[in-house]
Amino acid sequence: MRVAIVGATGLVGSTFLKVLEERDLGITELYLFASARSAGKKITFRGKEYTVEELTENSFDRGIDIALFSAGGDISKKYAPIAASKGCLVVDNSSAWRMDPEVPLVVPEVNKEAAFTNHGIIANPNCSTIQCMAPLKALAEKYGLKRVIYNTYQAVSGTGQKGVEDLQNGLKGLAPKVYPHQIVNNCLPHIDVFMDNGYTKEEIKMINETRKILELPDLPVTATCVRVPVINSHSVSITAELNSEFDIEDVKKVIGEYEGIILVDNPKNNEYPLATEASGQDKVLVGRIRRDFSTENSVNLWTVADNIRKGAATNAVQIAELFRDIKNKLA
Ligand code: A2P
Repeated sequence: MRVAIVGATGLVGSTFLKVLEERDLGITELYLFASARSAGKKITFRGKEYTVEELTENSFDRGIDIALFSAGGDISKKYAPIAASKGCLVVDNSSAWRMDPEVPLVVPEVNKEAAFTNHGIIANPNCSTIQCMAPLKALAEKYGLKRVIYNTYQAVSGTGQKGVEDLQNGLKGLAPKVYPHQIVNNCLPHIDVFMDNGYTKEEIKMINETRKILELPDLPVTATCVRVPVINSHSVSITAELNSEFDIEDVKKVIGEYEGIILVDNPKNNEYPLATEASGQDKVLVGRIRRDFSTENSVNLWTVADNIRKGAATNAVQIAELFRDIKNKLA
């Protein structure tokens, strides 16, 4: 596989490299792209030094099989079609292509088949959406979903290096640069921009992407997305109303056995998913599973995942691996 990383110097880009070092995509050649500011910078991958190149319209003129993009929506909008037109499969981490009906939106544990009907671009979902998909799919398959309510507690690493710096500098008493208020000692119910209907764009992303991935276009979903002073790993409280009666122990079993999930649900011993435990791993931790007594056939649960790994880099690499497997089969 001839592989390119677009945005190789960023927080997600550097995590692409870390994840690729740990897994086996079968890389024969690697190309690293970023802005002109980073051109010439050296990055070591598996003991070999690579030079970062400026991304240009000609960057994909060399038979690249797969490009992992994480350089922001504008870069993806412009360069993903260029790469695709040259026969390169793009796995894009931005929100630019996610809701395009021609572009599959994929969480491999949940809807990997969707990846194979593509026109050269596959979208990686929003980080908070990704970690909710496996538990909701497990519930949808067994009981059917009637309604979903999300409340998120999102780490500052989701804003990139600048978000992490705002928290670290804030602890030293310095003013924030990316957030509109200090993130130290605050929870900000404001991620991405506000829309006319009162929701933020992040909330709308979660709502629309959930419906697309689960193939439930009319599913009622609502979300409140909150930035919290945590360095890494997002937590999401989910309330899921189901279409049928359930036994709560069965619900725990169905979720715990689903691919990609680790059940951490022993509240009597103070065991539940934590950001500090999710960070650095690729599984989605799920716990606090309990009956929601406020309405019929409803469950509450708590999921935590590393938003830079499973919520971005690892999920994209898992998508790329689907194509390595096909290539290996054809070879
Ligand atoms: P650079 O480091 O040269 O600015 P993050 O999300 O952590 O802020 O990272 C954003 C990534 O997107 C970085 O690798 C950044 O490169 C890259 N990037 C930003 N602007 C461009 C551009 N115009 N062309 C290519 N890559 C870009």
